[in-house]
Formats: sequence, C-alpha cells, structure tokens
Amino acid sequence: MLTRDLSLEMVRVTELAALAASFYVGLGDKEGGDKVAVDAMRYYLNKIDIEGQIIIGEGEKDNAPMLYNGEILGTKNGPKVDIAVDPVEGTTLLALGQPNAIATIAISASGSMLNPGSSYYMNKLVVSRKAKDVINIDASPTENLQKIAKALGKKINALTVFVLNKPRHVELIKEIRAAGARIIIHDHGDVWGALAAALPETDIDVLMGTGGTPEAIIAAAAIKALDGGMQCIMDPQSDEEKDTLIQEGKRLNQVFQLHDLIKTDDAFFAATGITGSSFLQGVNFRSRNRAMTQSIVMRSHSGTIRYIDGIHHLDKKLNKLGFSLPQL
Ligand code: FBP
Repeated sequence: MLTRDLSLEMVRVTELAALAASFYVGLGDKEGGDKVAVDAMRYYLNKIDIEGQIIIGEGEKDNAPMLYNGEILGTKNGPKVDIAVDPVEGTTLLALGQPNAIATIAISASGSMLNPGSSYYMNKLVVSRKAKDVINIDASPTENLQKIAKALGKKINALTVFVLNKPRHVELIKEIRAAGARIIIHDHGDVWGALAAALPETDIDVLMGTGGTPEAIIAAAAIKALDGGMQCIMDPQSDEEKDTLIQEGKRLNQVFQLHDLIKTDDAFFAATGITGSSFLQGVNFRSRNRAMTQSIVMRSHSGTIRYIDGIHHLDKKLNKLGFSLPQL
C-alpha cells in the first residue's frame, strides 16, 4: 500500500506547477505556460521518494512540451508508481485567462494504470455515486439521462450536463436538449468537468462526450476516490489515429469501466487551480512575493477528499527552478 503521505507530496507537485503557470495567465502563450508547469512538476517529482514511471505524459497530441511517456522520476528510494500528469489542463484557458485551468496529477501502484497506446480521444460518461450503477455508454444519451435523473431523484429538466464545445458534439447537444436536460457547454477542460460531475456538491450532474484520453485516465483517479461512475470508449478523431489503434490491436468498441482505467484503489489524485473555478480558486497574488493556492487531493483507498489552501513565498519556490520572477 502506498503511504498516505503521498497526498501532500502530490499537492506540492500541482501547487508548484500552478504557481509557475500562473505567470502566463492571459499572455496568449500556451506553450510557454505549459513548459514552466512541466518543468515545475518534473523538478518536484524528482524530490519525492518514489520510483515513478510516466504512463500518461501530456503533450504528444499537440506537440506541447511534455513529461514523456516512460520517463522515470523520483529519488528511486521508494515505491514504484505509475504517474499521469497534466501540468496545465486547459492550456487555452490559461492563455486566454479564462476560468477552469488546473494543474493536475494522478498516481497509482505500479502496473495499475491503463496505457492507452496511441489513443488520443475517448468518449466519456461520468456521474456521481448515486447514479454510478445505472450508466451504460453503449445506450443512447436520452436513455442514460432518464436513468440518471431517476437515480438522483430529480426530474430530467433539473439535470445539468457538461459537454465540450466541439463540432463533434452537435448531435449530442441536440439530443440532450431534446431529452429536456440542461447543458453547460465549455470550450476546454473536461478533467474539471468530470470532477464537477462526480462531486455531489456541484451543480453539474453528468459529463458526456469526447475529450482527451490522458484527461480520462487522470480523472479516473478522482472518480475512484469519489466513488463515482465513469465509462469510456476510444473515439479516434482522425483516420490516422484509428488506423494506428487498429494496428496496435485495440478493440475500438471496448467499454472501459473505471477499474479498467486504473486497476487499483491504491491511487491518488491532486489538482491546484491556476485560473479560478466554481470549486477551486485560482492562484491569487497577495503581494510581490506571496501567492495563495487552493488544491484538492483525494486518496482512493480511504476515499478522503481534502481541500488545501497554501500561502507560498514565490522567490524561494520558483527561483529554484531558474524561473526569474517578473516584478509584481
Ligand atoms: P489542453 O490543456 O491539452 O489544451 O487540453 C484541454 C482539453 O479541452 C481537455 O480538457 C480535453 O480533454 C481536450 O482538450 C479535448 O481536446 P480537443 O480540444 O482537441 O478536442
């Protein structure tokens, strides 16, 4: 069993990435913000007593700076773990200074995280605990919404569904509207959307539609801790992606249940807000040298969820990274 102390270590990783990225809020520089967050994560992961292998390294999809798949991180004086990172989940949100950009990470016992090969996109269905046993991603959105509404004890018109704003979702959005449910449409950020769907205290009940595969696996660690429901199917968005998956022997109609994405309860999820959202504040500069962060960290084994506020001395933290601070 991985030591529970890893919770705080994971928060330190996402805090540092969020602090570094926060200097890029609204600057229109997706790659710049992603790069400093990647460097920050690598720097701090290498200080933790683990032997961690990156299974999910963000970046290949859009040639962003990445923590590459297979990279080994940590002091190697500790347990072997699988790592999934998304140093800036919502690089466009960061570049435009829009809400819901987060720094996030998931780790789990070695060998337990799905290696999705060349799958970049998955169709996802996420709900909170009370509706987890009624979802079926092979059924129609309407059928799922009817069952989810019943399980949550709501009328269908009181359900709110998170959907990414993508041309591929035109029909899905039409069907959700026809079924009578409400929709919150966001351009980016379906890890945030999955968390919102699985956390019972938010006003989002369901996440539907296709987003990144790395984001699905990271979110799975959180959904496990929240005891929510999640199902996914690979949904290649180009002929190239589809052909490569077929060559790799993937079954394109396979339904991935939560335990197929992460095959253990020995897992942790952490996220720190970069720009603010409804349940995580963004990095808040208090004075030239001080910034506040808000993070959420979850341990699947115990199901414990913690919100952690941090006040950071920026010079001491970020100068170590060779990151010269702009004058605030
Ligand atoms: P990035 O941080 O890599 O830009 O990802 C943002 C995101 O919106 C994810 O939340 C989502 O899973 C994915 O992109 C969807 O990909 P695409 O924008 O290519 O449809």
